[in-house]
Amino acid sequence: MKNVGFVGWRGMVGSVLMQRMVEERDFDGINPVFFTTSQLGEAAPAYGNHRSTLQDAYDIDTLASLDIIISCQGGDYTNEIYPKLRQAGWQGYWIDAASALRMNDDAVIILDPVNGQHIQDSLNKGIKAFVGGNCTVSLMLMSLGGLFANNLVEWASVSTYQAASGAGARHMRELLSQMGSLHNQVVKELENPASAILDIERKVTNFTRSGAMPTEQFGVPLAGSLIPWIDKQLENGQSREEWKGQAETNKILNTGSNIIPVDGLCVRIGALRCHSQAFTLKLKKDLPVAEIEQLLASHNDWVKVIPNDRELTIRELTPAAVTGTLSTPVGRIRKLNMGPEFISAFTVGDQLLWGAAEPLRRMLNILR
Ligand code: HSE
Repeated sequence: MKNVGFVGWRGMVGSVLMQRMVEERDFDGINPVFFTTSQLGEAAPAYGNHRSTLQDAYDIDTLASLDIIISCQGGDYTNEIYPKLRQAGWQGYWIDAASALRMNDDAVIILDPVNGQHIQDSLNKGIKAFVGGNCTVSLMLMSLGGLFANNLVEWASVSTYQAASGAGARHMRELLSQMGSLHNQVVKELENPASAILDIERKVTNFTRSGAMPTEQFGVPLAGSLIPWIDKQLENGQSREEWKGQAETNKILNTGSNIIPVDGLCVRIGALRCHSQAFTLKLKKDLPVAEIEQLLASHNDWVKVIPNDRELTIRELTPAAVTGTLSTPVGRIRKLNMGPEFISAFTVGDQLLWGAAEPLRRMLNILR
């Protein structure tokens, strides 16, 4: 059995990873070793057959004794520890949720239902670093994979509707606190059906602008509003999240010099853990919608085509319906006025499952 180290297993992505590994009995086939950056020597969690105490996540010798390390600890940890491990001659496999190594030539972005062959080819070439993709990119490719796999996408333009979880656990708490604080302002008025809605709205708007809302994490109100910027500002006017769209899509698909343009605006909205995305796609040919739907539906076991029907769409193509599931539905597929090669599509997916934890546990299973 392989010795597998887990770092950052207690955080939000790590917890979802643990939960999925228990559900799929992934611990049965490995010898897990749990690491800590702060609670050295305390009892390790009771998953599988393992050393009973937490090990030091900064101890290179202990880490280097492992066959595989999975880190959900974040980019700073990866940047500090990974080079030291390699310098120490460690030959094991590094599986990471953070973006630190993602674009390195000797690292592969893992999303095996989409790039399983590329992962296998890279293993055969001796690649040892496997990194989960940006959540919006992974979720797009799980939903629209059928079009990319058949080389039908000339370009993709996207507007995202990204959940608070993408920013972190504290941001999720802040969003809910903001929602509660808004409601608190107008509880009495809402109980009275005769109260004037514009008075209620004014009170909420004034409170939103008062600076009294909790905004330590997001910097501005998100509840009742949105934030049309995610991650750092780049010199070309893109946000870093927007930059990742094209860079990571093409790296996952291993398109080489035949870059598929992907660009658009990334927006934070008040959903908890499901990212949604609205696409305009230019296809390389004019295909009937039924054929497009068939290609999409047959690409992997998790995509589901929601027919472009109002009732089905509002019930099934939403964060409320998809959160906590591995389903990556796509709908609103129709031809656009721009011409017969232009289609719209809307995708939804759980940011912590296919968007973060699921590709990591699947990579572990490929390796063992
Ligand atoms: N950067 C993403 C977000 C999540 O902020 O929603 C990580 O892939």
